[in-house]
Amino acid sequence: MSLNIVILAAGQGTRMHSTLPKVLQILAGKPLLHYVIECAKSIGADDISVVYGHGGKEIQAMFNKESIRWTLQEQQLGTGHAVKQALSDIPDGNNVLILYGDVPLIRTETINKLLDACSTSDLTILTTVLKKPAGYGRVIRKDDKIVSIIEDREANKEQQRVKEINTGVMCCSAKHLKRWLGNLKNDNSKNEYYLTDVVNMAVEEGKTINGIKSDTWIEVIGINTRKELADAERSLQEKMIKELMAQGVGFADPARVDIRGNLVCGKDVFIDVNTIFEGDVELGNNVTIESNNVIADTKIGNKTVVHPNCHLRGAVTGENCQIGPFARLRNGAALSNDVKIGNFVEIKKSNISSGSKINHLTYIGDADIAKNVNIGAGTITCNYDGANKHQTVIGEGAFIGSGVELVAPVEIGEGATIGAGSTISKSAPSKKLTIERAKQVSLDKWKRPKKKE
Ligand code: UD1
Ligand code: CA
Repeated sequence: MSLNIVILAAGQGTRMHSTLPKVLQILAGKPLLHYVIECAKSIGADDISVVYGHGGKEIQAMFNKESIRWTLQEQQLGTGHAVKQALSDIPDGNNVLILYGDVPLIRTETINKLLDACSTSDLTILTTVLKKPAGYGRVIRKDDKIVSIIEDREANKEQQRVKEINTGVMCCSAKHLKRWLGNLKNDNSKNEYYLTDVVNMAVEEGKTINGIKSDTWIEVIGINTRKELADAERSLQEKMIKELMAQGVGFADPARVDIRGNLVCGKDVFIDVNTIFEGDVELGNNVTIESNNVIADTKIGNKTVVHPNCHLRGAVTGENCQIGPFARLRNGAALSNDVKIGNFVEIKKSNISSGSKINHLTYIGDADIAKNVNIGAGTITCNYDGANKHQTVIGEGAFIGSGVELVAPVEIGEGATIGAGSTISKSAPSKKLTIERAKQVSLDKWKRPKKKE
């Protein structure tokens, strides 16, 4: 049977107290809705429709590469009303799976279990048992059969004690859903059309209702408040770190690392405290990440060590490199093997070939540095003339003295030596010492100025 997925994402998220639409709030580096869309895609539905409303333009812009059918819910009159907006285009014979944009960690395996059960019942609901069920709709059963879902705010004391909750995920035929949603009323404390009221209608019609329980609670957490977002973040971090540890990655303290994207590690990687990984990061075998680093969209080769307090973004390193402490590798910094980048060194869009060392206080931008080059402290590639960027090319085995300015475009020959303090604006030949410095003078008659009375 054909399957349509409807994702609810129109709510404002009042309880967040934010101008950002709730489904764009960030969880482990990605918007909440991203997770739900990825899950929907993995199920292989014929059609994914997202019901949007509040902050619609921003949401559509963020996911403009996905093939999604966008359905506008002009006024947010409740979850039942939201689903109704998406139904008119769905053929009666199809099944509809409903996902909530603020329930981000739902797993494909669980949805597949729900879909299996869907083939043998008229309405299938994903539930779970929570120690602290406050805030969620409660699943009310009679003789073990689901008879209704009561929202937290409508529930009486006894119903509030029920620990089985509605996750929001449900599946049924479009035909039934259309009929039930057409009959929804908003006579409740929020004056909203609750999707959950379809359960009562199904019961009245004598339909079969199946409740599937999720195996883990983390996949069904609904995010309404900052607190819940922070709790979900922590749970997700713990889960990701646990998975990495199971693969053999060592952490000094699993609670003091944050992964905001995808971290892929080789064997015997060790990660000390307080590092943030963003985007796609790949660490080779035997990589050590010391404390306090930010590493984003970067690939680090085997045996490389990142010392404390570095910022790496859009960089690639070879094997056995030493980076930091206090180094910054920016977009397009490409290091070969055995490269050393020391403290207060910034590298942008440059190739640094194997064995080269840039140890202190240096800016290297738009440069091509050959093998075994030594760059002295305080060297600057002057790559920008105020309008355009220019290249600096440094040949194999060159030695750049301290405090040198290389005014690009400029080329330093193989084995060349540049004297300290030079401002080099013309190409320097191979194997020679090139020096550009005013003659040193000492003035006999000069006197130190005296402080005025
Ligand atoms: C809902 C369920 C509750 C369940 C909980 C699970 C209802 C009535 N209640 O409550 O039983 O335990 O989720 O997390 O369904 N939305 C729209 N349009 C609207 C209203 C909401 O698209 O008019 C979207 C929201 O953006 C959100 C989702 O629907 O993604 C859920 O809405 P929310 O208001 O958060 O419902 P809960 O009170 O959490
Ligand atoms: Ca919610």
